[in-house]
Amino acid sequence: MSTLWHGRFAEGPAEELMAFTVSLPFDQRLAVDDIAGSRAHLGGLARGGIITEAEAASVLDALDAVEQELSSGAFAFAPSDEDIHTAVERRVTELAGPAGAKLHTGRSRNDQVATDLRLYTKRALSDVGARIAALQDVLADRAAKVGTAYLPGYTHLQRAQPVSLAHHLLAHGWALARDVDRLADCRRRADVSPLGAGALAGSSLPLDPAGVAADLGFAAPFENSLDAVSDRDFVAEALFALTMVAVHLSRIGEEVVLWSSEEFGFARLDEAYSTGSSMLPQKKNPDIAELARGKAGRLIGNLTGLLATLKGLPLAYNRDLQEDKEPLFDAIDQMSLALTAVTGLLATLRFDIERMQEAADTPQASATDLAELLVERGMPFRDAHAAVGALVRESLDGGARLSDLVAAHPDLGADAVALLGPGVSVTRRTTPGGAGPAAVAVQLARFRARLDADASRFDP
Ligand code: ARG
Repeated sequence: MSTLWHGRFAEGPAEELMAFTVSLPFDQRLAVDDIAGSRAHLGGLARGGIITEAEAASVLDALDAVEQELSSGAFAFAPSDEDIHTAVERRVTELAGPAGAKLHTGRSRNDQVATDLRLYTKRALSDVGARIAALQDVLADRAAKVGTAYLPGYTHLQRAQPVSLAHHLLAHGWALARDVDRLADCRRRADVSPLGAGALAGSSLPLDPAGVAADLGFAAPFENSLDAVSDRDFVAEALFALTMVAVHLSRIGEEVVLWSSEEFGFARLDEAYSTGSSMLPQKKNPDIAELARGKAGRLIGNLTGLLATLKGLPLAYNRDLQEDKEPLFDAIDQMSLALTAVTGLLATLRFDIERMQEAADTPQASATDLAELLVERGMPFRDAHAAVGALVRESLDGGARLSDLVAAHPDLGADAVALLGPGVSVTRRTTPGGAGPAAVAVQLARFRARLDADASRFDP
């Protein structure tokens, strides 16, 4: 067997070497980007007079044919194809002859693979961005449709104060808005072309890094060839941004698991988005929610694995960098599937509003309202907190109903009892960004405006 680099070797590669070092099984995914990079590179070579227009045209035809073969599945990989770059170049040379052998002029697989991976990352992050937008749309729609429904808000998973259901849903929407922001920001830094850096130092030939960068739709060419071929910050950043998405989905997943339990009973899963048990006939399980929770662990592993690979690498290219692809591809695949599944899960979830409101309507849920009423009447907050706390304790100890204690209290009285009524407390959270229906209506409009503004964030 002979590889592209076997000129300086008298012997062919050991089987174990090939088995251990090939990346073709996973980097085939970069085929479209590799071909796009080669087209742009050819244009640069022709502009620099390094190859003739006729040679460029015949290699372009060969690239078209290779693209066709790859997309139809007719492409025959050879045992010597170490990676997608060598596979494409080998086939181009078979088809175009001596002109094909000029394709790699002034180029190394080091700048080539970095270019391919940046093109891929830009496209993949845009796609994830669109999937997040679809999930945010569902959250906004459901927030609008549930109107003034409310449920207990929790801290420490203990009932704290009632909040609008729309407010709770939008809390997840805003977290995802930060994810969109991070993905768009990360995509911006990925938007730099390494092509023309060569193996590490540039070239003696009149290459055109700025021209090929523009042809490939990159915002700019590299500034430093050593950095261009060895920088994988964009992969690490993409993995962090995707991992943060995973962590956010895991929190949504956990709440769906809780809400759909009989103990909470706040939501029922649609049959198409739940699973049964192989042994227990009565079961309806929230597997999407659980996997949304579970996948976060896998993405955290992808991120930390890559950071460990990058740590301590000397300039410039090292083969360790080949380990950048699988974690990235896996994170993209998993989040694409997870986002779409969770979108369907939330779109079809049925809320049991009655049950939620019943859980929120305990008299103790209005304790803060009573304390705030005392504050309005001039009592220092710490004293008000203690006074109401004492009433709550007395009522829980079975002494008397809280409403009777409130009515009898010299600083509270009958008008304070009105605060204990069902659904009253939540309407009193009127401050901007607060949980009451009036503030939430403003928030929902702001959220929708944010979604509109974000819609163009990933435009090329
Ligand atoms: N498959 C390699 C990678 O993904 C391509 C670059 C190989 N470069 C080299 N100098 N061996 O990193």
